[in-house]
Amino acid sequence: IQKDYDNVSKWTAAFIAKKIKDANPTEEKPYVLGLPTGSTPIGVYKELIRLNKEGYVSFKNVLTFNMDEYVGLPEDHEQSYHTFMWTNFFNHIDINEKNVNILNGNAKDLDLECQQYEEKIANAGGIDLFMGGIGPDGHIAFNEPGSSLESLTRIKTLTQDTIIANSRFFNNDVNQVPKTALTVGVKTVMSAKTVVILATGHNKSLALHKVVEEGVNHMWTVSALQLHRNGIIVCNDAATVEL
Ligand code: GLP
Repeated sequence: IQKDYDNVSKWTAAFIAKKIKDANPTEEKPYVLGLPTGSTPIGVYKELIRLNKEGYVSFKNVLTFNMDEYVGLPEDHEQSYHTFMWTNFFNHIDINEKNVNILNGNAKDLDLECQQYEEKIANAGGIDLFMGGIGPDGHIAFNEPGSSLESLTRIKTLTQDTIIANSRFFNNDVNQVPKTALTVGVKTVMSAKTVVILATGHNKSLALHKVVEEGVNHMWTVSALQLHRNGIIVCNDAATVEL
């Protein structure tokens, strides 16, 4: 538990940077990161960019897999998760473009795209560290309430709550928000060696209570973290008011 958003961002970035450094990754054995979008991780990305520019950590031998992407939104749309990741992170660090993996929400065969994504993760030797945010309803990536805790990468229909929450990025117009997305599964995230979940602000406090203090439950999918050996939640004071 950190005092505020800035400290959550700094703590998490320092943790991730140290993990990468300690692994001493090479081209043959890269460090594999799972990454989220959303407003919460922006501070972590800013801090990682700073640590990269100062020479503390390099992303040259880091391989990334993003959590999710909207279906049917052009890749260069300003709200696509491709655009988000390049604008907020990849354009500013020394990562090799070929090491970046983001689901293609415009693939002809979406099921095949999801299956191949899982294969790519497996071929990379699995994910070393998955960072994630948390939806106000306790979802991880786009694993909406009711998602199987055994789920892998697949197409998901977004709940009305998520569509409303994300309409703030689409001119507050729910009609502009895509209704489906490709997402890694709960199991895909939980199979990572380390999982770091960020939760900041009052609007995440109910989710944090459900996820930490109640049972493992597919209606609050981040609760699967309770079964993880190296699961960490980094939150600020404001997110803890229901604990
Ligand atoms: C979306 C994303 C999630 C993210 C959530 C919360 O649903 N698919 O990965 O955790 O939004 O976003 P924010 O951090 O903006 O609250």
